[in-house]
Amino acid sequence: MYKIASIGGDGIGPEIVAEGKKVLEAAGERFNFDIQWTDFDIGADRYIRSGELITEDELRDLSKYKAIYFGAIGDERVAPGILEKGILLTLRFHFDMYVNLRPIRLLENVDTPLAGKGPKDIDFIVVRENTEDFYVGIGSRFKKHEKKELNVVRDMYSIRFGLDVESDAEEIAYQIGVITREGARRVQTYAFDRAQARKKKLTSVDKANVLTEVYGLWRDVFTETKKNYPDVTTEFTFVDAISMWFVKNPEWFDVVVTPNMFGDIITDLGAMIQGGLGLAPGGNINPEGTSMFEPIHGSAPKYRNLGVANPIATIWAGSLLLDHIGEPKAAAAVITAIEQSIKDGIVTKDMGGNAGTAMVGSYIADLVKKPR
Ligand code: IPM
Ligand code: MG
Repeated sequence: MYKIASIGGDGIGPEIVAEGKKVLEAAGERFNFDIQWTDFDIGADRYIRSGELITEDELRDLSKYKAIYFGAIGDERVAPGILEKGILLTLRFHFDMYVNLRPIRLLENVDTPLAGKGPKDIDFIVVRENTEDFYVGIGSRFKKHEKKELNVVRDMYSIRFGLDVESDAEEIAYQIGVITREGARRVQTYAFDRAQARKKKLTSVDKANVLTEVYGLWRDVFTETKKNYPDVTTEFTFVDAISMWFVKNPEWFDVVVTPNMFGDIITDLGAMIQGGLGLAPGGNINPEGTSMFEPIHGSAPKYRNLGVANPIATIWAGSLLLDHIGEPKAAAAVITAIEQSIKDGIVTKDMGGNAGTAMVGSYIADLVKKPR
């Protein structure tokens, strides 16, 4: 019996999570485990109703779960940044989910915009650092002069910047990116371990030719960590160059490790080469604590309740969840079922089909129960 928390969130979030649950329950039926879900009412509606984003009590309750199944947040009635920072990033940081694991894999029978490339060419994973870099959320915007204290508080450390800024610009805004040795080390170690279990190749992403401080440290840590993995082939790439290589030669990659911000950008690119955002899952992982699994796409409010949203990214995220809780066979069976449903043409409009959200979910759930 697994106890799993779920947060449908906003827009299409609740619909796609409902389909994901169907599939995970089907996997439980076939592989002999039960899932007990606890739903949390967190998202824009609740925020508009009560002003609450996520409460201390909820964080305490969520800490009892090894896994959270998450839909999406984002709503046109709320200014950009409020829900993202107040819910999604709060969860990632509070639970120190320091790995954002994003497989970029072209499934069988899915079209890629890359001419001449197939499933054999597009099969790698991106390990995105998930708690540091320009995401630490410290910065300011002011005119002429400001004295300010900026804090970053994490499980492993806390950082305080006491800044006294003088400027004769009309207005100034700045945002600070932070990389720490321990923060870089733990995510890179995770990536090396993954590479060792795959094809033993690890590519590191940065922009050390311009942002020399933050990514200089990132590189130093990488060079040091690499010493523990003599059998893994490594390379450094700049983020602009890797954007080109994802398109030109995706077959070169096995595991890619990247700081947070660039990871955000290149995984949307990755999603496109694997067939679109409707297919791209992610896991926010704290190997020792609470982890969270979600599609990497957003809440797509304009498709809310129309029954047209593609649930595959969420179902695939469910497969990552199963893998994480120790059900690798069930996880693999979910992927096989997704591939079969695509082969059978039971797909939503974005993939050229005419099936609805619930139909795709039920079809995949049936295939998980009774594989062909
Ligand atoms: C993602 C999203 C988030 C991010 C947003 C919604 C805060 O784009 O998961 O990639 O930037 O990490
Ligand atoms: Mg993103």
